[in-house]
Amino acid sequence: MRNAERHRLACGRRANIISHMNLLNSIQDRFRAALKDLVPDAGPYVAMVKPTQDTKHGDYQANCAMALAKTLGKKPREIAQDIVARLDLGDLLEAPEIAGPGFINLRLQTAHIAGALQTISPDDRLGVTKTMTPRTYVIDYSSPNVAKPLHVGHLRSTIIGDALTRLLRFLGHTVITDNHLGDWGTQFGILLYGYKNLLDQEAYAKEPVRELARIYIEVRRLIGADEDEAKNPIAEACRAETAKLHHGDVENNRLWKEFMPHCLAEIHEVYEKLGILPYDHEHGESFYNPLLPGVVESLLESKVAEPGDAGAIIIRFNENNVALVRKRDGAFTYTTSDLATIQYRLEHFHPQAILYVVDFRQSQHFANLFEAARRWGVTGVELSHISFGSVLGKEGKPISTRKGDGTELIDLINQAVELGLQKYRESYDDRKAQGHEVPDLTDADQRAIAEAVGIGAIKYADLSQNRTSDYKFDYDKMLATEGNTATYMQYAYARNRSIFRKAGIDAETLRTDPPTVTLETPHERALALQLLRFEEALLSAVAEYQPSAITAYLWDLAKTFSGFFQNCPVIRAESEPLRKSRLLLCDLTARVLQRCLDLLGIKTVERM
Ligand code: ARG
Repeated sequence: MRNAERHRLACGRRANIISHMNLLNSIQDRFRAALKDLVPDAGPYVAMVKPTQDTKHGDYQANCAMALAKTLGKKPREIAQDIVARLDLGDLLEAPEIAGPGFINLRLQTAHIAGALQTISPDDRLGVTKTMTPRTYVIDYSSPNVAKPLHVGHLRSTIIGDALTRLLRFLGHTVITDNHLGDWGTQFGILLYGYKNLLDQEAYAKEPVRELARIYIEVRRLIGADEDEAKNPIAEACRAETAKLHHGDVENNRLWKEFMPHCLAEIHEVYEKLGILPYDHEHGESFYNPLLPGVVESLLESKVAEPGDAGAIIIRFNENNVALVRKRDGAFTYTTSDLATIQYRLEHFHPQAILYVVDFRQSQHFANLFEAARRWGVTGVELSHISFGSVLGKEGKPISTRKGDGTELIDLINQAVELGLQKYRESYDDRKAQGHEVPDLTDADQRAIAEAVGIGAIKYADLSQNRTSDYKFDYDKMLATEGNTATYMQYAYARNRSIFRKAGIDAETLRTDPPTVTLETPHERALALQLLRFEEALLSAVAEYQPSAITAYLWDLAKTFSGFFQNCPVIRAESEPLRKSRLLLCDLTARVLQRCLDLLGIKTVERM
């Protein structure tokens, strides 16, 4: 988190130059100056300036006086008064109010908000500045074990990794994406066994991907629910095939090479459907094979690893926590491969951070891996496990995929798109029945809406969760037209765009030559303030690698917009300047909505 702090500080510095851009940073800068002569290190106290939960207490609130009371040995209210006296309010803040034990309530000058809004209007980035301290990130996400069809369990890593990539890049960082495919594991033994015993030649010739998926599932089914796979003869035969592959058996290696492109094609089809950014690299585990003996040697030499029982090589973390880096039979492990991967990435990409977007069940693996890497001399690089919870079925139980009985991801996606179309048609009929003017769209347009809505729904449902929580995969909820869903945001966007179409107003002119903004009602002021908080939301998302900070912001924005729209006539505003000012609010709302959704990998359509 130190880096996130640095990032915030850097943006704060930047905010001095472009002071209207990030309100929080502007206020914090003023607090930093005010606290300078009170404490040697103002940093932690400056961080106590935060947006208020309740607008009764102003727009922002500082509770540092209470914390400072202990350090300075004075009464918190006195300190609060002292800080306020030193605070340069400029044209940014109204005179602060001291409340309760010593809270400093801060209210922005409405004229400042209006001016700032007008300034960001021509800006394509909507006031979000690029970081002054760009870092290079490697993000390892999706990283499925190939050879088996993707299932719902692969969704989260793929979606979260893609969103983090978009977000970090937008903020000006360099992101190198790497799909660390499991392309060398035991699942190939299953495929090899299935190929040799169950293959339908004709089907394989026609649709190799389908046929490989079928035999994979079939072999898993034959192994059955037998928990004790050690004694299962088919499981045993599969293991033997894997061992042959790893020991250089010519036939198995030839088949592995034959399977791989098919396996990749299947995965890429899903990525394309989901609209995932193309990867910079897809170095699977097999890519690191040649490096593994050298890694183990180096680990031994540097005393990170030690000999274990019967020729095994281990890394010992404590008495009951040991990781194998070479098994007794000479085989290398997931840990060895991941250590080689770190070494390779450092050498080739020179990152400041490597993020692993992987299921919480691998927490121990990553804790060990990072510790081993540190002992091995990897320092000064942030290594973070971006952990996430499970996707549950509607009844709240994890969807079982291990035995091959989980629904394939591609089917879930296709179903969401179908439901997206249905949703659109229902809404079309509803609006028609209510006498609204509804555009008649071509089949292609309807298809585009279905995809945006269906896939957007899946992504938003996932990203709007705190990533460490589990969530239920429930189409009804994710496609709801009311509430914190992609569908709601997409409709809000399209409705907003239709205001301009209907009134025949060119939004482009409004943007480049923005009118004076008037914020006379609390609804207008609240909306304007919310729009100016866009950067704050993105920075808080990045600080915790938490895309749900963006959806939370979107939800607040949508609610604020709805309050504004219900109370403030736009097209029928009392005067032309007011109409223009409100149109600018509408346009900025649409643009921020669209940008946020885009950062989450979600599409918008102009009309629905
Ligand atoms: N293939 C692994 C799995 O499906 C995930 C790999 C994650 N990345 C890594 N560098 N270990 O469980």
